[in-house]
Amino acid sequence: MPHLRIPNVRSPFGGSLIGKTFVTRPIFQETIELLGKHTEVRSNPDDRVLSKSELIRNLADVDGAITLVTDTVDREILESARQLKVVANFGVGFNNVDVDSASSLGIAVTNTPGVLTETTADLAWSLLMSAARRIPEADRFVRAGRFKAWGPQMLLGQDVFGKTLGLIGLGRIGQAVARRARGFDMRTLFYDPELVPESTIEALGVRRATLDEIYREADFISLHVPLLPETKHLLNDRTFALMKKTCVVVNTSRGPVVDEKALVRALKDGRIAAAGLDVFEREPQIEADFFDLDNVVLAPHIGSASTETRLRMSMMTAENLLAVLNGNRPPNLVNPDVWERRRR
Ligand code: DGY
Repeated sequence: MPHLRIPNVRSPFGGSLIGKTFVTRPIFQETIELLGKHTEVRSNPDDRVLSKSELIRNLADVDGAITLVTDTVDREILESARQLKVVANFGVGFNNVDVDSASSLGIAVTNTPGVLTETTADLAWSLLMSAARRIPEADRFVRAGRFKAWGPQMLLGQDVFGKTLGLIGLGRIGQAVARRARGFDMRTLFYDPELVPESTIEALGVRRATLDEIYREADFISLHVPLLPETKHLLNDRTFALMKKTCVVVNTSRGPVVDEKALVRALKDGRIAAAGLDVFEREPQIEADFFDLDNVVLAPHIGSASTETRLRMSMMTAENLLAVLNGNRPPNLVNPDVWERRRR
Protein backbone atom coordinates (compact mmCIF):
# COMPACT_ATOMS: atom_id res chain seq x y z
CA MET A 1 0.00 0.00 0.00
CA PRO A 2 1.45 3.39 -0.94
CA HIS A 3 2.48 5.51 1.98
CA LEU A 4 0.26 8.53 2.44
CA ARG A 5 2.08 11.84 2.08
CA ILE A 6 0.95 14.17 4.78
CA PRO A 7 2.29 17.71 4.81
CA ASN A 8 2.11 19.46 8.15
CA VAL A 9 0.56 22.90 8.24
CA ARG A 10 1.70 24.49 11.48
CA SER A 11 -0.22 27.22 13.20
CA PRO A 12 1.29 30.66 12.66
CA PHE A 13 -0.02 31.48 16.13
CA GLY A 14 2.18 28.97 17.89
CA GLY A 15 1.00 28.13 21.39
CA SER A 16 -2.74 28.60 20.96
CA LEU A 17 -3.36 25.24 19.29
CA ILE A 18 -6.40 23.39 20.61
CA GLY A 19 -5.76 20.01 19.07
CA LYS A 20 -4.83 18.01 16.03
CA THR A 21 -7.01 17.64 12.97
CA PHE A 22 -7.01 15.45 9.90
CA VAL A 23 -8.73 16.16 6.58
CA THR A 24 -9.34 13.07 4.46
CA ARG A 25 -9.36 14.70 0.98
CA PRO A 26 -8.21 18.03 -0.47
CA ILE A 27 -10.71 20.75 0.43
CA PHE A 28 -10.64 24.54 0.15
CA GLN A 29 -7.40 26.23 1.19
CA GLU A 30 -9.39 28.82 3.17
CA THR A 31 -10.64 25.99 5.38
CA ILE A 32 -7.18 24.54 5.91
CA GLU A 33 -5.98 28.03 6.86
CA LEU A 34 -8.79 28.46 9.39
CA LEU A 35 -8.07 25.06 10.90
CA GLY A 36 -4.36 25.83 10.88
CA LYS A 37 -4.86 28.94 13.01
CA HIS A 38 -6.20 26.82 15.84
CA THR A 39 -5.02 23.26 15.33
CA GLU A 40 -2.18 21.23 13.96
CA VAL A 41 -3.59 20.20 10.59
CA ARG A 42 -2.67 17.27 8.46
CA SER A 43 -4.50 16.54 5.25
CA ASN A 44 -4.47 13.96 2.52
CA PRO A 45 -2.98 15.89 -0.42
CA ASP A 46 -4.19 13.35 -2.96
CA ASP A 47 -7.69 13.52 -4.37
CA ARG A 48 -8.36 9.87 -3.74
CA VAL A 49 -10.40 7.98 -1.17
CA LEU A 50 -8.30 6.64 1.69
CA SER A 51 -8.50 2.97 2.55
CA LYS A 52 -9.80 1.84 5.90
CA SER A 53 -6.30 1.14 7.19
CA GLU A 54 -5.15 4.59 6.07
CA LEU A 55 -8.07 6.18 7.87
CA ILE A 56 -7.27 4.21 11.01
CA ARG A 57 -3.63 5.24 10.84
CA ASN A 58 -4.36 8.90 10.22
CA LEU A 59 -7.08 9.28 12.81
CA ALA A 60 -5.06 7.53 15.52
CA ASP A 61 -3.81 10.69 17.22
CA VAL A 62 -6.21 13.44 16.15
CA ASP A 63 -8.93 15.30 18.02
CA GLY A 64 -11.02 16.18 15.00
CA ALA A 65 -11.54 14.84 11.49
CA ILE A 66 -13.11 16.31 8.38
CA THR A 67 -14.63 13.48 6.39
CA LEU A 68 -16.57 13.20 3.14
CA VAL A 69 -19.40 11.06 1.85
CA THR A 70 -16.71 8.88 0.24
CA ASP A 71 -15.26 7.92 3.65
CA THR A 72 -16.93 5.03 5.40
CA VAL A 73 -16.41 5.86 9.06
CA ASP A 74 -17.38 2.68 10.86
CA ARG A 75 -17.19 1.54 14.48
CA GLU A 76 -13.73 0.00 14.12
CA ILE A 77 -12.31 3.27 12.83
CA LEU A 78 -14.03 5.29 15.55
CA GLU A 79 -12.88 2.90 18.29
CA SER A 80 -9.29 3.03 17.15
CA ALA A 81 -9.27 6.85 17.13
CA ARG A 82 -8.71 7.20 20.86
CA GLN A 83 -8.51 10.99 20.96
CA LEU A 84 -11.24 11.75 18.44
CA LYS A 85 -13.88 14.19 19.67
CA VAL A 86 -15.54 15.22 16.44
CA VAL A 87 -16.22 13.92 12.94
CA ALA A 88 -17.16 16.95 10.84
CA ASN A 89 -18.76 15.52 7.73
CA PHE A 90 -18.64 17.56 4.53
CA GLY A 91 -22.25 17.29 3.32
CA VAL A 92 -25.78 17.37 4.57
CA GLY A 93 -26.03 13.57 4.37
CA PHE A 94 -24.10 11.56 6.94
CA ASN A 95 -25.03 7.95 6.15
CA ASN A 96 -21.31 7.28 5.64
CA VAL A 97 -20.71 7.71 9.38
CA ASP A 98 -21.80 5.18 12.00
CA VAL A 99 -23.52 7.80 14.13
CA ASP A 100 -24.76 5.34 16.77
CA SER A 101 -21.22 4.14 17.40
CA ALA A 102 -19.94 7.71 17.47
CA SER A 103 -22.60 8.57 20.05
CA SER A 104 -21.76 5.60 22.24
CA LEU A 105 -18.08 6.59 22.11
CA GLY A 106 -18.87 10.23 22.94
CA ILE A 107 -17.80 11.52 19.53
CA ALA A 108 -19.76 14.42 18.05
CA VAL A 109 -20.83 14.13 14.41
CA THR A 110 -21.69 17.25 12.42
CA ASN A 111 -22.98 17.98 8.91
CA THR A 112 -23.48 20.99 6.61
CA PRO A 113 -27.21 21.54 6.17
CA GLY A 114 -28.91 24.59 4.68
CA VAL A 115 -26.12 26.06 2.58
CA LEU A 116 -26.54 23.53 -0.22
CA THR A 117 -30.33 23.59 -0.40
CA GLU A 118 -30.80 25.92 -3.37
CA THR A 119 -27.82 24.55 -5.31
CA THR A 120 -29.08 20.99 -4.98
CA ALA A 121 -32.60 22.05 -5.96
CA ASP A 122 -31.11 23.69 -9.07
CA LEU A 123 -29.41 20.41 -9.96
CA ALA A 124 -32.61 18.42 -9.45
CA TRP A 125 -34.29 20.80 -11.88
CA SER A 126 -31.38 20.58 -14.31
CA LEU A 127 -31.74 16.81 -14.40
CA LEU A 128 -35.51 17.04 -14.68
CA MET A 129 -35.31 19.43 -17.63
CA SER A 130 -32.43 17.57 -19.27
CA ALA A 131 -34.28 14.27 -19.09
CA ALA A 132 -37.61 15.78 -20.19
CA ARG A 133 -36.12 17.61 -23.17
CA ARG A 134 -33.40 15.01 -23.93
CA ILE A 135 -30.60 17.59 -23.75
CA PRO A 136 -27.61 15.21 -23.35
CA GLU A 137 -28.94 13.09 -26.21
CA ALA A 138 -29.40 16.21 -28.35
CA ASP A 139 -25.85 17.28 -27.53
CA ARG A 140 -24.49 13.86 -28.58
CA PHE A 141 -26.59 14.09 -31.76
CA VAL A 142 -25.10 17.44 -32.74
CA ARG A 143 -21.54 16.42 -31.87
CA ALA A 144 -21.89 13.27 -33.97
CA GLY A 145 -22.65 15.46 -37.01
CA ARG A 146 -26.18 14.07 -37.26
CA PHE A 147 -27.97 17.43 -37.36
CA LYS A 148 -28.69 17.72 -41.09
CA ALA A 149 -31.92 19.73 -41.01
CA TRP A 150 -34.62 20.89 -38.62
CA GLY A 151 -37.21 18.15 -38.31
CA PRO A 152 -40.79 18.24 -36.99
CA GLN A 153 -40.32 14.99 -35.09
CA MET A 154 -36.68 15.22 -34.22
CA LEU A 155 -35.76 14.53 -30.57
CA LEU A 156 -39.22 15.10 -29.19
CA GLY A 157 -39.34 15.42 -25.44
CA GLN A 158 -42.12 16.40 -23.13
CA ASP A 159 -43.49 19.61 -21.70
CA VAL A 160 -42.74 20.49 -18.11
CA PHE A 161 -45.00 23.49 -17.55
CA GLY A 162 -48.45 22.76 -16.22
CA LYS A 163 -47.61 19.12 -15.40
CA THR A 164 -47.77 17.28 -12.07
CA LEU A 165 -44.64 17.09 -9.94
CA GLY A 166 -44.39 14.49 -7.18
CA LEU A 167 -41.93 15.23 -4.42
CA ILE A 168 -40.97 12.42 -2.12
CA GLY A 169 -39.61 14.27 0.90
CA LEU A 170 -40.51 17.88 1.60
CA GLY A 171 -37.57 18.93 3.73
CA ARG A 172 -35.35 21.87 2.86
CA ILE A 173 -34.36 20.65 -0.60
CA GLY A 174 -37.81 19.29 -1.47
CA GLN A 175 -39.29 22.68 -0.58
CA ALA A 176 -36.75 24.51 -2.74
CA VAL A 177 -37.67 22.23 -5.66
CA ALA A 178 -41.36 22.97 -5.01
CA ARG A 179 -40.73 26.73 -5.06
CA ARG A 180 -39.18 26.44 -8.51
CA ALA A 181 -42.16 24.39 -9.72
CA ARG A 182 -44.44 27.37 -9.14
CA GLY A 183 -42.68 29.19 -11.96
CA PHE A 184 -43.67 26.31 -14.24
CA ASP A 185 -47.33 26.42 -13.18
CA MET A 186 -47.09 22.87 -11.93
CA ARG A 187 -49.40 20.99 -9.65
CA THR A 188 -47.14 19.70 -6.91
CA LEU A 189 -47.93 16.67 -4.77
CA PHE A 190 -45.72 15.67 -1.87
CA TYR A 191 -45.25 12.82 0.52
CA ASP A 192 -43.35 13.25 3.76
CA PRO A 193 -43.78 11.17 6.91
CA GLU A 194 -42.59 14.14 9.00
CA LEU A 195 -44.96 16.84 10.11
CA VAL A 196 -44.95 19.63 7.53
CA PRO A 197 -46.55 22.84 8.87
CA GLU A 198 -49.77 23.88 7.15
CA SER A 199 -48.26 27.34 6.63
CA THR A 200 -45.44 25.78 4.56
CA ILE A 201 -47.88 23.70 2.53
CA GLU A 202 -49.97 26.78 1.82
CA ALA A 203 -47.00 29.01 0.99
CA LEU A 204 -45.65 26.44 -1.48
CA GLY A 205 -49.05 25.71 -2.98
CA VAL A 206 -48.42 21.96 -2.67
CA ARG A 207 -50.80 19.14 -1.79
CA ARG A 208 -50.17 16.17 0.51
CA ALA A 209 -50.55 12.76 -1.17
CA THR A 210 -49.85 9.12 -0.48
CA LEU A 211 -46.84 7.52 -2.13
CA ASP A 212 -49.06 5.47 -4.42
CA GLU A 213 -50.97 8.59 -5.46
CA ILE A 214 -47.67 10.18 -6.41
CA TYR A 215 -46.57 7.11 -8.37
CA ARG A 216 -49.87 7.05 -10.25
CA GLU A 217 -50.41 10.75 -10.88
CA ALA A 218 -47.04 12.45 -11.21
CA ASP A 219 -45.42 13.30 -14.52
CA PHE A 220 -42.13 13.99 -12.72
CA ILE A 221 -41.00 12.39 -9.48
CA SER A 222 -38.09 13.84 -7.54
CA LEU A 223 -36.58 12.15 -4.48
CA HIS A 224 -35.54 14.18 -1.42
CA VAL A 225 -35.26 11.65 1.38
CA PRO A 226 -32.31 10.55 3.50
CA LEU A 227 -31.02 7.00 3.14
CA LEU A 228 -32.60 4.98 5.94
CA PRO A 229 -33.56 1.30 6.19
CA GLU A 230 -37.13 2.35 5.31
CA THR A 231 -36.10 4.38 2.22
CA LYS A 232 -33.76 1.76 0.72
CA HIS A 233 -35.22 0.66 -2.66
CA LEU A 234 -38.23 2.91 -2.14
CA LEU A 235 -38.49 2.92 -5.92
CA ASN A 236 -38.62 -0.65 -7.16
CA ASP A 237 -40.36 -2.89 -9.71
CA ARG A 238 -43.73 -2.43 -7.99
CA THR A 239 -43.55 1.36 -7.88
CA PHE A 240 -42.24 1.73 -11.45
CA ALA A 241 -45.18 -0.43 -12.59
CA LEU A 242 -47.57 2.09 -11.01
CA MET A 243 -46.02 5.11 -12.74
CA LYS A 244 -47.18 6.73 -15.97
CA LYS A 245 -45.30 5.56 -19.04
CA THR A 246 -44.31 9.20 -19.56
CA CYS A 247 -42.97 9.66 -16.02
CA VAL A 248 -39.49 11.10 -15.46
CA VAL A 249 -37.73 10.12 -12.22
CA VAL A 250 -35.03 12.32 -10.67
CA ASN A 251 -32.71 11.26 -7.88
CA THR A 252 -30.40 13.73 -6.14
CA SER A 253 -30.75 12.10 -2.70
CA ARG A 254 -28.89 8.82 -2.21
CA GLY A 255 -28.39 6.05 -4.76
CA PRO A 256 -29.77 3.09 -2.79
CA VAL A 257 -33.17 4.80 -2.51
CA VAL A 258 -33.70 3.46 -6.04
CA ASP A 259 -33.38 -0.20 -6.95
CA GLU A 260 -31.13 0.35 -9.97
CA LYS A 261 -31.76 -3.03 -11.58
CA ALA A 262 -35.50 -2.30 -11.45
CA LEU A 263 -34.89 1.17 -12.88
CA VAL A 264 -32.92 -0.29 -15.79
CA ARG A 265 -35.81 -2.66 -16.48
CA ALA A 266 -38.34 0.20 -16.32
CA LEU A 267 -36.28 2.39 -18.68
CA LYS A 268 -35.60 -0.44 -21.13
CA ASP A 269 -39.20 -1.67 -21.24
CA GLY A 270 -40.66 1.82 -21.54
CA ARG A 271 -42.38 1.43 -18.15
CA ILE A 272 -41.28 5.02 -17.54
CA ALA A 273 -39.94 7.60 -20.00
CA ALA A 274 -36.66 8.73 -18.49
CA ALA A 275 -34.54 9.31 -15.40
CA GLY A 276 -32.01 11.87 -14.20
CA LEU A 277 -29.55 10.53 -11.66
CA ASP A 278 -26.93 12.31 -9.61
CA VAL A 279 -26.40 9.45 -7.17
CA PHE A 280 -25.92 5.71 -7.58
CA GLU A 281 -26.46 2.55 -5.63
CA ARG A 282 -22.82 1.47 -5.60
CA GLU A 283 -21.20 4.84 -6.14
CA PRO A 284 -18.84 5.51 -7.87
CA GLN A 285 -19.62 2.27 -9.70
CA ILE A 286 -22.27 2.83 -12.34
CA GLU A 287 -24.74 0.16 -13.39
CA ALA A 288 -23.29 -0.86 -16.79
CA ASP A 289 -26.71 -1.00 -18.49
CA PHE A 290 -27.18 2.76 -17.98
CA PHE A 291 -24.44 3.42 -20.52
CA ASP A 292 -26.53 1.78 -23.24
CA LEU A 293 -29.65 3.78 -22.47
CA ASP A 294 -30.34 7.16 -24.04
CA ASN A 295 -33.22 7.91 -21.68
CA VAL A 296 -31.11 8.28 -18.55
CA VAL A 297 -29.10 11.39 -17.72
CA LEU A 298 -26.10 10.67 -15.50
CA ALA A 299 -24.22 13.10 -13.25
CA PRO A 300 -21.36 12.27 -10.84
CA HIS A 301 -22.91 13.35 -7.49
CA ILE A 302 -22.64 17.09 -8.19
CA GLY A 303 -25.82 18.22 -6.43
CA SER A 304 -24.08 20.83 -4.30
CA ALA A 305 -21.20 21.44 -6.70
CA SER A 306 -21.14 25.19 -7.21
CA THR A 307 -18.03 27.06 -6.18
CA GLU A 308 -19.92 29.25 -3.71
CA THR A 309 -21.78 26.40 -2.05
CA ARG A 310 -18.85 24.01 -1.78
CA LEU A 311 -16.77 26.79 -0.19
CA ARG A 312 -19.54 27.45 2.34
CA MET A 313 -19.82 23.73 3.10
CA SER A 314 -16.07 23.52 3.50
CA MET A 315 -15.96 26.42 5.96
CA MET A 316 -18.89 24.97 7.90
CA THR A 317 -16.99 21.74 8.50
CA ALA A 318 -14.17 23.73 10.09
CA GLU A 319 -16.55 25.86 12.17
CA ASN A 320 -18.28 22.76 13.48
CA LEU A 321 -15.00 21.04 14.23
CA LEU A 322 -13.45 24.04 15.97
CA ALA A 323 -16.57 24.60 18.06
CA VAL A 324 -16.25 21.10 19.51
CA LEU A 325 -12.53 21.44 20.19
CA ASN A 326 -13.26 24.75 21.92
CA GLY A 327 -15.78 23.00 24.16
CA ASN A 328 -18.79 24.59 22.48
CA ARG A 329 -21.82 22.92 21.02
CA PRO A 330 -21.28 22.89 17.23
CA PRO A 331 -23.93 24.62 15.12
CA ASN A 332 -24.77 21.46 13.14
CA LEU A 333 -24.65 18.59 15.58
CA VAL A 334 -26.16 15.37 14.25
CA ASN A 335 -26.07 13.45 17.54
CA PRO A 336 -27.21 15.90 20.25
CA ASP A 337 -27.30 13.10 22.85
CA VAL A 338 -23.50 13.27 22.94
CA TRP A 339 -23.71 16.87 24.02
CA GLU A 340 -26.44 16.31 26.57
CA ARG A 341 -24.35 13.58 28.20
CA ARG A 342 -21.30 15.84 28.35
CA ARG A 343 -23.23 18.52 30.13
CA ARG A 344 -24.46 16.19 32.86
C1 DGY B 1 -24.47 15.90 0.71
O1 DGY B 1 -24.32 17.06 1.09
O2 DGY B 1 -25.06 15.05 1.39
C2 DGY B 1 -23.87 15.53 -0.59
O3 DGY B 1 -24.54 14.46 -1.14
C3 DGY B 1 -22.41 15.22 -0.43
O4 DGY B 1 -22.25 14.30 0.55
